[in-house]
Amino acid sequence: MEKKTHGKDHGLAHQHPVLLAVGLALGFILMDPFEMGPVGGHRFKPVKHVIAPYKQVMENWPRDNESRLGLGKLEFVDEVFGPESLEFDNLGRGPYTGLADGRIVRWTGHTAGWETFAIVTPSWSEELCARGVESTTYLQWKVEQHCGRPLGLRFDRESGDLYIADAYYGLLVVGPEGGLATRLTTHADGKEILFANDLDIHKNGSVFFTDTSARYNRVLMKLWLEGAKSGVVEVVADLPGFPDNVRLNERGEFWVAIDCCRTAAQQVLTHNPWMRSIYFRLPFPMSLLARLMGMRMYTVISLFSENGDIVQVLEDREGAVMKLVSEVREVNGTLWVGTVAHNYIATLPYPQIVSDPPS
Ligand SMILES: *[C@@H]1O[C@H](CO)[C@@H](O)[C@H](O)[C@H]1NC(C)=O
Ligand SMILES: *[C@@H]1O[C@H](CO)[C@@H](O)[C@H](O)[C@H]1NC(C)=O
Ligand SMILES: *[C@@H]1O[C@H](CO)[C@@H](O)[C@H](O)[C@H]1NC(C)=O
Repeated sequence: MEKKTHGKDHGLAHQHPVLLAVGLALGFILMDPFEMGPVGGHRFKPVKHVIAPYKQVMENWPRDNESRLGLGKLEFVDEVFGPESLEFDNLGRGPYTGLADGRIVRWTGHTAGWETFAIVTPSWSEELCARGVESTTYLQWKVEQHCGRPLGLRFDRESGDLYIADAYYGLLVVGPEGGLATRLTTHADGKEILFANDLDIHKNGSVFFTDTSARYNRVLMKLWLEGAKSGVVEVVADLPGFPDNVRLNERGEFWVAIDCCRTAAQQVLTHNPWMRSIYFRLPFPMSLLARLMGMRMYTVISLFSENGDIVQVLEDREGAVMKLVSEVREVNGTLWVGTVAHNYIATLPYPQIVSDPPS
């Protein structure tokens, strides 16, 4: 059943003659000469990040031979659109999630279903923004800047306020009752926030956020918030791909999702993580690009100890269930898996991984 995907780096140019063309096309889009996309009007300098060589990392990477991530269950299919970040409030309500149509929604149970909890801009309107399953396609990018794209959600446990990192509107906050979120800042260190992507809240009330366009790699690194190393950023783990949101569990370990990376061509992408922040704004689907480049995208999610040691690796090698995973949240015996480009949330019992009968 299982297809062998054991990695071997191939010569880029030989294996992927279309790569150059695709690269040029991407370059053109990034330069955005007609200022057609949301990048338009902003000065946007792509940033290269240093990540460990793919081969070197993969040689020592534990494999999940049972492909256990494939046992996950897809929930809320075509009810949520690109639910990247998942959050629960102090009362255990949720999940809350940010959608590709710009809304932050809350699950209220089977009777009432999903309700709109917050929006990030007064220019949001149902006619303009709420395009259902189409909101995760390229059709959305034309309106996305008017609707918002919330990518990171975190509750302040003290105040109950929800902090939001939005790709267009930067950092915002909304009270426990929801509504229109208030913009907090558009500048950090004197630079404009262009692609707010994720955030975290320190106990002392400081909000840390990440901007994909900033000149540091936010996730291969860990910002020590407390103790002797407070404020120090250091690399804690070498990953075989570009990870997205990082989420701690109750045990102080952290979950990282990586869309992985079997070919040298994809290594180009993983070395240029800023592409991720624009890929869903491309005027063609990423899956097409992936096919052109001969990439096999599949997801690896890993649990790391505080020291960066690998505790657990879960794979879905066939990409059957989970693809383009952006965030993994472990709550009370369940992994909640968010994805930026698909219209569902996946769940998996953890640490007791059992296959759910299809419902
Ligand atoms: C998974 O398979 C590879 C090769 O097929 C093997 O080297 C490795 O030990 C296996 N891992 C586990 C945890 O069984
Ligand atoms: C998890 O369990 C704890 C203890 O039972 C409960 O207080 C909390 O609300 C639960 N969280 C969620 C998100 O269900
Ligand atoms: C909270 O702690 C962090 C990490 O030490 C520090 O950078 C930040 O300035 C602190 N914030 C406040 C309001 O003290």
